[in-house]
Amino acid sequence: MSSTNDFAKSLLLKGAKSGTVIVSERQIKGRGRKTRSWDSPKGGLWFSIILYPFVLSADLPLLTLTSAIAVTEALLEFKVPVYIKWPNDLLINNKKVCGILSESIVLPNTVVEQGKSFAVIVGIGVNVNNTFDNKPENFLVRPTSLINELGKSVDKNRLLDRILDYFSYYYTEFIKGNFACILKRWRSLAKPFLGQTISIETEEGVLKGVAEDITEKGSLILRLLADNSLKIITAGDVALIAEEKI
Ligand code: BTN
Repeated sequence: MSSTNDFAKSLLLKGAKSGTVIVSERQIKGRGRKTRSWDSPKGGLWFSIILYPFVLSADLPLLTLTSAIAVTEALLEFKVPVYIKWPNDLLINNKKVCGILSESIVLPNTVVEQGKSFAVIVGIGVNVNNTFDNKPENFLVRPTSLINELGKSVDKNRLLDRILDYFSYYYTEFIKGNFACILKRWRSLAKPFLGQTISIETEEGVLKGVAEDITEKGSLILRLLADNSLKIITAGDVALIAEEKI
């Protein structure tokens, strides 16, 4: 199929239930964040989850963190040193093994008490048994896959099962409003990222600083190298400075 996120969107417009999962062996038009394309050959795990979380839109960034936690927990079972780079890239040895594209859609005619009602499509791409030999080094962050890191292939169905188990657990906490649980686990799984000097591409331009922490709403707290002040970042592309190409 072209993209599991696009397929999910067409299903949700036809009334698909919350929790519907769409998986594809490969994607012809896999999409990444910021209209980038996402290489999705056979061997990787490409899937999307349709959700109808009845929460405020301001809390949706925490759903992105929730998804990253679920995939990280599952990957840790495969004994790889994976960690989260804000907000939801998963890295192994500073190389990207998983990317997540969350897209929210305001549903017409379903205004609920707390605010508008949303559908969210969480699209998850994990490089599992696909390799990157012969690929040009023109990625924002260098990619890797589980087979590259472990030297052996991984059962994709088992991995998907484990991700969905963790997802269901943490999503329930998210829906209950147990954001403290999400933030605590995210901070713990992002430990190698927090404290690093990073550069981040925001709408205001490129900022450099130390990734100090996240706010209660999931924004990044950056200590700027320029003047040591703190800046709250809600969206942007993070590069680890040590990894930047000069
Ligand atoms: C990123 O890091 O830029 C996000 C990549 C998200 C890729 C996944 S693969 C499954 C789903 N379908 C898509 O077209 N994209 C997401």
